[in-house]
Formats: sequence, C-alpha cells, structure tokens
Amino acid sequence: MSVRRLAAEQPEGFAFTPANLEWAKAQIKHYPEGRQASAVLSLLWRAQAQNDGWLPEPALRYVADMLDMAYIRIYEIVTFYTMFNLAPVGRYYVQVCGTTPCMLRGAEDIKDACRKHIGEKDQVTDDGLFSWTEVECLGACVNAPMTQINKYYYEDLTPKNFESILKRLRAGEDVEPGPQDGRQTSAPAGGAITLTDPALYANDPSGPEPGSAGTTVMVAKAKPKATAPKREKRPG
Ligand code: FES
Repeated sequence: MSVRRLAAEQPEGFAFTPANLEWAKAQIKHYPEGRQASAVLSLLWRAQAQNDGWLPEPALRYVADMLDMAYIRIYEIVTFYTMFNLAPVGRYYVQVCGTTPCMLRGAEDIKDACRKHIGEKDQVTDDGLFSWTEVECLGACVNAPMTQINKYYYEDLTPKNFESILKRLRAGEDVEPGPQDGRQTSAPAGGAITLTDPALYANDPSGPEPGSAGTTVMVAKAKPKATAPKREKRPG
C-alpha cells in the first residue's frame, strides 16, 4: 500500500528545459483541438524525468496550465498512479511488489532486506543513492518475488541475491536485470518436467532430422469423409 501525498519541502518553481518544452509541444499536437489533456501522462512523465525522478507541486501546476486542466485533475492522476513520485527518490529507486503472488513467494523478506540495507520505506539514504517503496503487482508474477529498480525488473529474488544486487549497485557496478536464479525468462524453474519426449518434436523443422535414430515421424491418419445418411422414401 502506498501513501500518496506531496512532499513537505517544495522548490520555488518548475519549467521545462527548452528541449523538453519543444518535445512537449510536439506531444500535444498529436491530439485534436480541445483534447490536449490526452498528453497529460507523457508530459508528467517527462517532467518527472527532468526533476531527478519526482514531481514537485510546481511541476503539477505547470503541466496543468500547459494543458488547460484544473489543478485537481492533475492531482487526481499523480496520486492514483504509483509511477509518479511525489517526493524525492534515490538514484536507485527500488519498487518492491507486495501483491499476493510476490507476497506468497517471499516479498516480506525482500522488504526486510530493504529496511536493513536502505532504511525505512520512502526515505532516501544520506548518500542519495537508494530509496524504496512498496507497489502493487508489476505484471511479472511468474517470476515472483520481484522488484523494479529504476527502469529494470529484477526477478526470482531471495534475500541473498537481492542483497547482492544492492551491494553491487552501491559499488557502482552494472547488474544484469531479469531472473536472478539462472532461469531463462519465465521458463520452468529447474528445467522442463513435462513434454520432454523428443518424439513430440519430430515434425519440428528445428528438431532432429526425420527418420534419424531415436525419432518417430508422427503422421496423422486422414479420417474417412463423413457421408450424409440416406433418407428413407416416404410411403406415397
Ligand atoms: S504479484 Fe508481484 S509482479 Fe504480480
């Protein structure tokens, strides 16, 4: 569960850089006259990227004014979507999924590791490197438990491999995203245990040569054509 409220300390103002302003105007042109508000998510996202990963209150007003939207509409959007951060985040922003599949597979242990190595939820470390929060399902349940760190997913986590990721990031190393237990994407953990008979793949052009030892060419027998039953003549 995430608490969504504006940071206590806010900057004086916000404005897009010239390059971002040009980009924003091009985004707005994608929509018909009177529908400029449709660009709201992309503009907020760009504003957040420009401001080190979080949206200050002046940025909300700035985007609202650009799109001729009521401030409350922008506030509704940014307090609904957890992709928008309303307070400063660390250079490595760790989003821990706490929804049911991840929770059943050990998300609580991952949160404990965050508390141990980063600190309390939604607090930035003194060196500015890390902060963490809990979010709802990030759509990678098959690799639960998982976290998103900046843009990347780190999956199949254990406290051990997760702590190692944090240590390596802190040391300035690149850490390969994806499953951390060696499996390929979401293939069965530990390897396949069903459909392992090579004969099943005999007709697969990428499989063994047909007729080679150990393979069976599977040919489906054609079914006899069904014929319509003859009608009996009615007695005249
Ligand atoms: S429940 Fe964690 S990714 Fe879906």
